Amino acid sequence: MRIAQTVRDVRAARDRLTGRVGLVPTMGALHAGHEALLARARSGCDSVIASLFVNPAQFGPLEDFAAYPRDRHRDRAIFEACGVDVLFEPAVEEIYPPGESTRVDPGPIARVLEGASRPGHFIGVATVVAKLFAITRPSVAYFGRKDAQQLVIVQRLARDLRLGIEIEPVNTVRDARGLALSSRNVNLSPKHRTAAGALYKALLTAKSAWTNGQRSGQALRKAMRDVLDHEEAIETDYVSAAHPETLEELDDVPGPVLLSLAARIAGTRLIDNITLPDPD
Ligand code: PAF
Repeated sequence: MRIAQTVRDVRAARDRLTGRVGLVPTMGALHAGHEALLARARSGCDSVIASLFVNPAQFGPLEDFAAYPRDRHRDRAIFEACGVDVLFEPAVEEIYPPGESTRVDPGPIARVLEGASRPGHFIGVATVVAKLFAITRPSVAYFGRKDAQQLVIVQRLARDLRLGIEIEPVNTVRDARGLALSSRNVNLSPKHRTAAGALYKALLTAKSAWTNGQRSGQALRKAMRDVLDHEEAIETDYVSAAHPETLEELDDVPGPVLLSLAARIAGTRLIDNITLPDPD
C-alpha cells in the first residue's frame, strides 16, 4: 500500500492506476462498516484508493472535532489488510490551503434532518467530497447507507456537477443488538450501548407497522418516538418518515419511505435509518 500525504503525491499515484478505480472516503477510526465499504471496492474495482481525513469543515463549533477518535496506526493496518492500493492521508492545509474559500452548498436538502440539527454540516461534507473526487478522479465511490442523508447528497452532487462518478451505496453493518456501527460508539459505556439498541428497535417497530399496512407518516413517526421515549438514557433529536430522494416529510406513505432518527445518549449523538421497502 502506498501512502500519499500530499495532493501532488496522490495525483501521481492515481495517474499510475489503470482500469476501474474505487474510492472509499473515511475519517478513520475504522470499524466493520468501513471494512464492508473497502471489501465492496476491492471486489468491484481494479484499484482502490482510500482517504483518511477528519474534515474540520463538517464539524460545528460545539461538536467533537478535537475529540473525534483517531488511531492512525491501527487504521493503516486495516486499510492494508483490506487491499487498499493507495491511502491518501492529507494534513488539513492540503485540503484547505491558506486563502481558500470555495464551498459546495447542496441546497435545501442539506438543511433538513441532520442539516437542521447540524447547520453547515453538509456544506462541509459536500465540499470535502468534491475535493476528494477532484483530486483522486475515481470511477466509483462507496458510501454507507448508515449516513442516509449524506448518501443522497453525494449522489446529487455527482449528478448535478456532472462528475461522471458512480456512487455505490453499501448496507449498514450492525452489532448483535442491532446498533449500527459508528466510530462514535466507542464513547458509549456497556450500559449505554445496550440502551442504544432502542434506535434500531424503534425503526423495526415502525417497519412492522408499515408491513401491517400503516401508511400514515405521522403514525410511523409516533411509533418510533414511543420506543425511544421508553428508554430513559435516550434524548431524541428527531424522528422522520421522509421521501428517500427529496427527504421531504411524508403525511401519506404511498411508496418508498426513509425512516430515520437521531438521538443523544450520555452526550454521544447517534443516527440510524432504514428504507422501506428494503432497497436490496
Ligand atoms: O462519512 C464520513 O466518514 C465522512 O462524512 C466523509 C464522507 C469521509 C467526508 O468527510
